[in-house]
Amino acid sequence: MFLTERNNYKKEKIEMQKHTLQVSSIRQSNMVFVVTGATDGIGKALVLELAKKGAVVAVIGRNPKKFEKLIAELENLSIPAKNISRISSFIADLSVMSSIVDVTSRIRDSYDAVDVLINNVGGYFAERKVTEEGFEYTFALNYLGHVLMTFLLLGKIQKSDSGNIINISSSEHKHGKIHFDNLNLSKSFFGRKAYAQSKLADMIFIREMSLFLRKTDIRINAIHPGIVKTNIAQSKFGLQSLAFKLLKNTVAIKPEKAALRILQLVDNPDFAHLRGNYVSGTKVKSSHTLTSNHYKREELWLITVDILKEWFYPILNEKDISLTNHKLEYIQIESS
Ligand SMILES: NC(=O)c1ccc[n+]([C@@H]2O[C@H](COP(=O)([O-])OP(=O)(O)OC[C@H]3O[C@@H](n4cnc5c(N)ncnc54)[C@H](OP(=O)(O)O)[C@@H]3O)[C@@H](O)[C@H]2O)c1
Repeated sequence: MFLTERNNYKKEKIEMQKHTLQVSSIRQSNMVFVVTGATDGIGKALVLELAKKGAVVAVIGRNPKKFEKLIAELENLSIPAKNISRISSFIADLSVMSSIVDVTSRIRDSYDAVDVLINNVGGYFAERKVTEEGFEYTFALNYLGHVLMTFLLLGKIQKSDSGNIINISSSEHKHGKIHFDNLNLSKSFFGRKAYAQSKLADMIFIREMSLFLRKTDIRINAIHPGIVKTNIAQSKFGLQSLAFKLLKNTVAIKPEKAALRILQLVDNPDFAHLRGNYVSGTKVKSSHTLTSNHYKREELWLITVDILKEWFYPILNEKDISLTNHKLEYIQIESS
């Protein structure tokens, strides 16, 4: 099975070699997008791009003032008022699971269907912090929150004709290790270690979730957009900080380019067949070897479900997805 997966990746890699950046605007109008961490950086660039196309966008961020600034920026860019009226703000702290339960409930009440969920929020932190719910901050923001957001919006994504989940990954995931006995990294913490672990966990989740979704039309993939000039990794972390600054001032691309790369996964036909894949820039690449390890994927899945169950059990049991023995079970429903 692992060999087949590897061969598929090779084939996909070759198919993508000639790929150029092309995002059609046609399918983005009238589609409903949910973009997390969207008041700055790559998320904000995604919203600007989507607003130009007239998409309906739920912007999830933690700072209402930054949302107002975003709207002012759209007005300055002469985006038509009709398009701007389709952009809505949802305030939430995405490192806090109860806040995600609350915001997803508001989103479920606001839209009949969600066409595209972009789990973009993420960060790199030099110093160890613990959330009010007891999780290491990087793991909570970059991984647990993405999983919970996905689970709690799945019923609405299922109602779309072209459900699509895109997680913003990082090439750093390839340097990651899952510290199964110490996911909270309480024994030894290092910013890069925490970031790489969270991004690897996210990639493993994408692979496992894509298997869960294989009988549906919902796509789920991850993309590393490149090194992008944003506010990420602002905290002081010595040599790493200097190295990151250097990258930002040399090879880094603009957030607008990163946004276009991400949107390829929405409507570029070359990407339509992807399920559980890792795209780096404009090419499908192989992800960390651990993502092909069925046992490790299962182990992480079970731990994750166990951690998150108090937040999603009460909601999913009465919604479109049910649970049996810690496994999600997909119930095909009519999209009426
Ligand atoms: N930049 C890169 O080179 C790079 C490379 C690979 C992958 N990525 C990934 O790309 C994604 C976006 O990163 P970025 O570079 O655009 O970062 P960024 O400029 O720091 O933007 C992060 C966004 O997330 C929001 N956010 C952070 N913590 C939050 C929280 N607890 N609750 C709600 N919103 C929160 C921020 O809100 P505020 O506006 O309030 O700060 C901001 O809007 C991340 O997943 C990152 O790992 C980035």
